[in-house]
Amino acid sequence: MLSVALLAGFTAVAATTPVYLDDTKPIEERVEDVLKRMTLEEKVAVCHAQSKFSSQGVKRLGIPEVWMTDGPHGIRPEVKWDKWNQAGWTNDSCVAFPALTCLAATWDRNLSMLYGTSIGEEARYRKKTVLLGPGVNIYRTPLNGRNFEYMGEDPYLAAQMVVPYVKGVQSNGVATCVKHYALNNQEMNRHTTNVIVDDRTLYEIYLPAFKAAVLEGKTWTIMASYNLYKNQHVCTNQYLLNDILKGEWKFDGAVVSDWGGVHETDQAITNGMDMEFGSWTDGLANGVSNAYDNYYLANPYLDALKSGKASEEVLNDKVRRVLRLIFRTEMNRNRPWGSFCSDEHYRAARAIGADGIVLLQNKNNVLPIDIATTKKILVVGENAIKMMTVGGGSSSLKVQREISPLDGIREFVGSKAEVQYVRGYVGDTSGEYNGVVTGQNLKDDRSADELIAEAVEAARNADYVIFVGGLNKSEHQDCEDSDRTGLELPYAQDRVIEALAAVNKRMVVVNLSGNAVAMPWVKKVPAILQAWFIGSEAGHSIADVIFGVVNPSGKLPMTFPVKLSDSPAHANGDANQYPGVERNDGSRRLDEKYTEGIYVGYRWFDTKNIAPLFAFGHGLSYTTFKYGKVTADKTSMTADGEITLSVDVTNTGSRKGAEVVQLYITDKKCSVDRPAKELKGFEKVSLNPGETATVKFTIKSDALSFFDADAHKWVAEPGVFTARIAAAADDVRTSVDFELK
Ligand code: GLC
Repeated sequence: MLSVALLAGFTAVAATTPVYLDDTKPIEERVEDVLKRMTLEEKVAVCHAQSKFSSQGVKRLGIPEVWMTDGPHGIRPEVKWDKWNQAGWTNDSCVAFPALTCLAATWDRNLSMLYGTSIGEEARYRKKTVLLGPGVNIYRTPLNGRNFEYMGEDPYLAAQMVVPYVKGVQSNGVATCVKHYALNNQEMNRHTTNVIVDDRTLYEIYLPAFKAAVLEGKTWTIMASYNLYKNQHVCTNQYLLNDILKGEWKFDGAVVSDWGGVHETDQAITNGMDMEFGSWTDGLANGVSNAYDNYYLANPYLDALKSGKASEEVLNDKVRRVLRLIFRTEMNRNRPWGSFCSDEHYRAARAIGADGIVLLQNKNNVLPIDIATTKKILVVGENAIKMMTVGGGSSSLKVQREISPLDGIREFVGSKAEVQYVRGYVGDTSGEYNGVVTGQNLKDDRSADELIAEAVEAARNADYVIFVGGLNKSEHQDCEDSDRTGLELPYAQDRVIEALAAVNKRMVVVNLSGNAVAMPWVKKVPAILQAWFIGSEAGHSIADVIFGVVNPSGKLPMTFPVKLSDSPAHANGDANQYPGVERNDGSRRLDEKYTEGIYVGYRWFDTKNIAPLFAFGHGLSYTTFKYGKVTADKTSMTADGEITLSVDVTNTGSRKGAEVVQLYITDKKCSVDRPAKELKGFEKVSLNPGETATVKFTIKSDALSFFDADAHKWVAEPGVFTARIAAAADDVRTSVDFELK
């Protein structure tokens, strides 16, 4: 009898399972079901942080909390509830994947998917709801401290590469938080700079990667940036958040503030902010208990609601977005379990690193080094030994391991040859960020002259000299919250490079940076590799390329200028253009005018006929490729039609290699100024020696359009266009004209 009663009881309970707990119901129904059960206090509570990196769910209803984690390259070690300091876990050492400039330099959509899937697995394993990345701010100036976290100067490349990353992460039931939306293109005065940019430039250059992340990647959250636009902080911005993101793009996810990006309540309520993090309120923050109750979207918001000053309808829209995020992640019971520091993740990091390395120059085929005929290799430079995964700002990590360039070279060479290391220069000997320490003692009091003399002496009888230098993510050297002060390499590295090149003709410079650097010695050094910040597998990826295990196939995602004044934001030396000019109204705000407009990166160098040091899209291989003549399947197309281009590419060398075939479009005659050409397609093809592939591109009118700011729409004007097939922005191999009717 009892069991029947119990069963009946259960059945009765089962029949009344709330909709929001019923996995078979659509998310929107579950959201509405929760919403109507929530109190006003519970609704406000989900719109702001409760700790450094978490916000409340609805305990009473069994709705879980939201946990955020940095960063775009790996899962940040656990910090204390309300401090940046380390929580002191012993099981949160992660894999540091390559910086996103390196991923972009692969021009490989499949590797981006692999990257997102892998880092998403690490986030999932660490039980994180939201990964605070990837970043896709456009590379407007080579001085921006955080360019290493982003995907280069071209909106099409960044848009194509961000989508697979977002999909890969979210396939784990972890949300991406694409950042920093938008116009956060420098670190200097990042909280107070009001960016002034025309609509056409905004839509053609600075929005496309974010738009693709929302419309194609379907990112579940987006991070609003610190800077101002139209004199409103972007975290509380009618134009970027309400009009464009939620209006034009119909974004249904949650807008997360950058940490401390919200500065007052009213605009936070009305201008599209959904989840406020990191605020410094009226001095009650910084660890004082209940500081979170003082957040702008906390008690002040509750007061505004209770006094009728704020509408519950607007609040409900915010809450729906947060609940949607939770149902897509924490309350999705079918999520995979994730994995951490797995062999697969190390293999992925190593492969992405090697395929992102760009062979900038290789005179006399110095590379790859044939170890069989080599007796002594000299490795020079602090960056050959310095850990790069600690530092640089919020993307800093605590890694399970990091293979340095010297480690990687030594491991590959083994006993086959002698590998000698000398310091060459002393740069940044610190090794700590937020309590994570490298444990390295880089102290060296010798003078530059002593260090150079030692290096030169060692170089005389070496078969090869490998100089590993560049930047190092310390302040002003590719780091958050500070920009670089110039294009030159720091720590007098140019002197060391010149001295070594003078005594050894088989020299390789390996530059570690997220930014272009000046190379006054470019004609004196036969081989140059741009090796980015590659993370845990840096030494393995670099050795794989140096010794030819991997044939380099990376292409630059940004232009390397000869000198800073060649680049658009610095050409006029006008502070209004960069870094902005402080107003004299006591607001402590600066105005910065993007007067170069759409002429960013190669768009500027092409149109102004300025020869770059190395062009956007440039990258050599250990083999060679021949391009056939491009053909079009028709000579004209209508606005709703398409044209298919075909071009044969042959590997004319003696080893397998991959080539990134690029498609640029030129509008030969237009009612508005347009760049000389714009990237509208790329395909990476891997070819065996002698093999030919036919690469095809389909052109539709969106590849021909410019943004007509007056009409506020994309327009493709009828007329003749040229399709240019290229191996780099300065290396067009074949072209064909066609007409848009
Ligand atoms: C930082 C960064 C942002 C990061 C956040 C949390 O200031 O701008 O990228 O995700 O705060 O650390």
